[in-house]
Amino acid sequence: MRRYNVAVVGATGLVGRTFLQVMEEYGFPVGNLRLFASERSAGSKINYCGQEFTVEELSENSFEGADIALFSAGGAVSEKYAPIAAAAGAVVIDNSSRWRMENGIPLIVPEINIGDFSGGGIIANPNCSTIQSVLPLYPLKKYGLKRVCYTTYQAVSGSGQKGKNDLFRTLNGDSPQFYPHDISKTCIPEIDVFLPDGYTKEERKMIDETRKILHMPELKVSATCVRVPVPNSHAVAIAAEFENEITVQDVVTALEGQDGVTVTNRPQEHVYPVSTLANGQDEVLVGRIRKDLSCENGILMYSAADNIRKGAAANAVQIAMRLIKEGKI
Ligand code: A2P
Repeated sequence: MRRYNVAVVGATGLVGRTFLQVMEEYGFPVGNLRLFASERSAGSKINYCGQEFTVEELSENSFEGADIALFSAGGAVSEKYAPIAAAAGAVVIDNSSRWRMENGIPLIVPEINIGDFSGGGIIANPNCSTIQSVLPLYPLKKYGLKRVCYTTYQAVSGSGQKGKNDLFRTLNGDSPQFYPHDISKTCIPEIDVFLPDGYTKEERKMIDETRKILHMPELKVSATCVRVPVPNSHAVAIAAEFENEITVQDVVTALEGQDGVTVTNRPQEHVYPVSTLANGQDEVLVGRIRKDLSCENGILMYSAADNIRKGAAANAVQIAMRLIKEGKI
């Protein structure tokens, strides 16, 4: 079997380390592996498959010979280095938001739209909350999806190590240094920067990316994104409205047939999607499925997923594995 030279950018971060963990778990066919971060962590060691690798400082020459480059080092790094990696011949899978809405850049959830990749260049990995929202919506498109409203409950790991540190710091009674309020004592309805229309950029990402991934540029979507005092795994309450009649059983049947989704819907036994159940797995859990009593053909459901795995690292590695399997890399 062919082996692929892989460059990981942001290898010391939460998502970067999880790229490696997921690749190891999936038995990724790695040839040469190179790990990059900022000059701060150059020289530090990271283990992969029992072998120690030295982290290198990222530079313009980092991508020579790379077949695949996995990026998770923030938008500024992706803006500068993703085109350099692509020009060096690597297929880039970028976890930042920098390239997601760019024309001609595929934005991929592999169970939905792997066919949007036509070869070479940069692939964007969607926003974490978006992935776990579009996966349950996709098999329901056939009922004439016409409107979606999201409310998110997003874990602090979505802010990277800084977010986790702030939760534990404030749990110990110290003042917050990262979030604008004490995340150990409150939910914070502010994720990413505010835009002139009163939405946050995180909310805007969910709206725009849902339309792009589902190939529904006119879909009516809105979102409220909230940071909650949960270490890991996001949840999303999804209200969806359809042109056609749809029953709870229709939803369950459609979701049971959807790769990447596990129906978790036995509320009487307290079995529904919770972060503690989602942690460490790559499935999107969906439950609390019921009719929306406020409109004619409406459904309410609730999803939970590991935002660092399916919401970021695992989705990216799954994209690479699918493209390898299809002979496209
Ligand atoms: P470093 O550890 O050297 O700062 P997280 O999202 O968990 O905070 O991780 C961010 C990742 O992005 C880290 O691996 C970090 O490396 C990396 N990173 C941040 N800035 C740069 C940069 N200018 N060049 C390369 N990697 C960077």
